[in-house]
Amino acid sequence: MSHAEDHEGTRRDFLYYATAGAGVVTTGAAVWPLVNQMNPSADVQALSSIRVDISGVEVGTQISVKFLGKPVFIRRRTQAEIDEARAVDLSDLIDNDSRNPNLSGGGDGGDENRSLDENGEWLVMMGVCTHLGCVPLGDGAGDFHGWFCPCHGSHYDTSGRIRKGPAPENLHIPVAEFVDENTIKLG
Ligand code: FES
Repeated sequence: MSHAEDHEGTRRDFLYYATAGAGVVTTGAAVWPLVNQMNPSADVQALSSIRVDISGVEVGTQISVKFLGKPVFIRRRTQAEIDEARAVDLSDLIDNDSRNPNLSGGGDGGDENRSLDENGEWLVMMGVCTHLGCVPLGDGAGDFHGWFCPCHGSHYDTSGRIRKGPAPENLHIPVAEFVDENTIKLG
């Protein structure tokens, strides 16, 4: 084979692959809208897991974020709030269940089983009263200095546990984890 023929062969190969490549792209463009319609909408996908920047949350304050259409309270507790929550005798609890899906074995209602970090500074809970679903008031509200639901008078303590009133369960905890020290991922 002469040098010229060799070169020609290479060029034909190049054209062949380029054509094949264009075919793949075209096929992809035609198939994608169909596949896309079978997936959940972009809105639903975005909400199934969100990341929350907590770098601006001061000790003794909380933020509420909307997750899966419901409010989630993220509170950075003071040491006094943590101490009060951890001093509670578990036999005084109406609901002695952690309500924490992030614990493998479930666990009792001890505050250590409900806070997101070991020190107990971060409490992440669904902001939904377990009676009939109102959004409780926070920032030390109620007889137990945690949250108070004004709808029918349910009092939650500084760990979000029901202590008085008609609500049957502690405020639920969503699936949550720290991604880094400034970011909590919900879902
Ligand atoms: S909905 Fe909260 S006390 Fe009834």
